[in-house]
Amino acid sequence: MPAAMLEPPGLTTTEAHFIEQAQHDGRLFIHQPYEQYSASNHAAWQKLYKRMEPRWQRYANEAFLRGHEALCLDEKAVPRLADVNRFLSPLTGFQAKAVSGYVPAFVFFDCLRNRQFPTTVTIRREDKLDYLPEPDIFHDIAGHVPMHTDRAFADVLVRFGECAHTAADLVRGIGDEQQRMDALTSIIRAMARFFWFTVEFGLMRSAHGIRVYGSGLLSSFGEIQHSIESPDVQRYPLQLEWAVNQSFEIDHYQPLLFIVDSFDHLYELVGRLEQWLKRGRLNNVAPGEPAVNAKDLSSFLRTNG
Ligand SMILES: [Fe+2]
Repeated sequence: MPAAMLEPPGLTTTEAHFIEQAQHDGRLFIHQPYEQYSASNHAAWQKLYKRMEPRWQRYANEAFLRGHEALCLDEKAVPRLADVNRFLSPLTGFQAKAVSGYVPAFVFFDCLRNRQFPTTVTIRREDKLDYLPEPDIFHDIAGHVPMHTDRAFADVLVRFGECAHTAADLVRGIGDEQQRMDALTSIIRAMARFFWFTVEFGLMRSAHGIRVYGSGLLSSFGEIQHSIESPDVQRYPLQLEWAVNQSFEIDHYQPLLFIVDSFDHLYELVGRLEQWLKRGRLNNVAPGEPAVNAKDLSSFLRTNG
C-alpha cells in the first residue's frame, strides 16, 4: 500500500506513540504533528464541539463567547495551534504552546507570565467523550484559550505567573531545608487551589445571572449545566481564605464553586494572594488535595528568580 494511503497513527489520549517518544526523550515542549490526527480524532473534536455549543450559549460568560468567535475555530476538525495563535496573539499576546504532558508547577506559571499557554495536543477517544482525568486539546483549546482573548483575564494569568516568581524568591530565603520544603509545598498547594477554584472552575456574576468562566466547566458537557442549575452545588462569593484552604477532588462534579464579580475583581484577588504569600500566610495552609509532587517542588527551587 502506498504511504499516502495509510491511516495516520492518531493522537489519542494515552495512546499516542509520538507523545510517548517525546516523554521518553525528555522533550516537554514539542511541535503539533498535525498530520498524525486520525479521522477518529477529528470526529471526536466535532462531536465534542457540536454538543457543547448550545450549552456555551446558555451558560458561558460573554468574554468566552466573544473569544470563540475571535478564534474562528473549525468545529469539524482539530485546530492547528498555529492558526489559533494567528488570531489570539494580536489580541492579548498569548500563544498556545504544544507540550507532551505534565508541566511542573513553576514551569507552568512561568509560561503564563510569558503569555504562553502549555497546550495538550492529544484528544480523548471518540467513544469516551465524557470523562478523562488528564487534559486534552478540547479542554485546552476549546475550554481555556477563548478566555485568553480577553485582556483583563489574560492579565490575571500573567499575575499568577508573577506570584510564582515571588514564591520562588521567598522560599530561597528560608535557610532551614525542612522549613523551606514545608513552606514551598504549602504555597504550591495554595496556588493550585486558587487556580482550580478560579481559572478551572470559576463562576462569575453577570447581568443575566451566574455564568461560567472556568475552563474545567467550559469543556465539560455535563458539569457546565450542573454547575449552574443543580441545587446540590454550593455557590459562594470567592474568599481567598476559603479557596486556599479548601481541598478538591478531580474525579467527580465539584460540590463547591466560587463566584467573582468580574475579571478586575479576580485580578485584585490574585494581587492579594501575592501579599499573603509575602507575609507568610500561605506557608501552612490546610492539608489535603492537591498533592504536590517532587517535580513541582524542584521546578520552584531550580529557578534563578
Ligand atoms: Fe485546565
